[in-house]
Amino acid sequence: MTRVKMPGAGRGHHCGMAYVLLLIAHLLCAAAFIGVVFAEVMLMPAVKKRLPRPVALLWEKEFGRRARRIMPPIVLALYLAGVGLAWFHRGALAHPLQSSFALLLTVKIALAASVAGHVATALILQRRKRLTASRSDLIHRSVLAHVLLIAVIAKAMFHVAP
Ligand code: HEM
Repeated sequence: MTRVKMPGAGRGHHCGMAYVLLLIAHLLCAAAFIGVVFAEVMLMPAVKKRLPRPVALLWEKEFGRRARRIMPPIVLALYLAGVGLAWFHRGALAHPLQSSFALLLTVKIALAASVAGHVATALILQRRKRLTASRSDLIHRSVLAHVLLIAVIAKAMFHVAP
């Protein structure tokens, strides 16, 4: 049987069962999270503008209610799976400047930590009743930029030369 060399092999790709399951969980949770943020930033405002104000407010309220109900376990699973994946790369992560893979993975994790900071900031502002519409908007846009960059880095880090 001929062995197919995986692109990026030797740059930290792991193929064990545990790794693959964590990777799939991480990918599906990331898809859900990025999709919801994408909808909030790229779909909702335009849709709301075309609806009568009371309907738009109700739509927004119910979307938010549903998101607050299903997103926490998904985001938690996203981060836990991420930490699980990173554990397999701890050797590389111990020397972030030694390879482009380790550097990009470190930047990716830092961006994910920044996303967590955004979420924490939004929750704190909300509790203090200081989460205005424009602040919420800014946070959503920033999170979208973060997660898109994270996805690009997650794919690029296995393919950028040493
Ligand atoms: C906002 C949070 C996060 C998002 C949106 C995100 C997104 C992604 C995406 C889209 C991939 C590519 C998955 C694939 O190709 O199947 C990935 C891979 C990865 N993520 Fe995350 N991630 C997040 C947080 C984290 C955290 C907190 C860690 C570690 C502490 C982490 C560690 C990893 C690792 C090690 C990989 C490489 C897996 C591989 O391709 O073998 N991620 N991430």
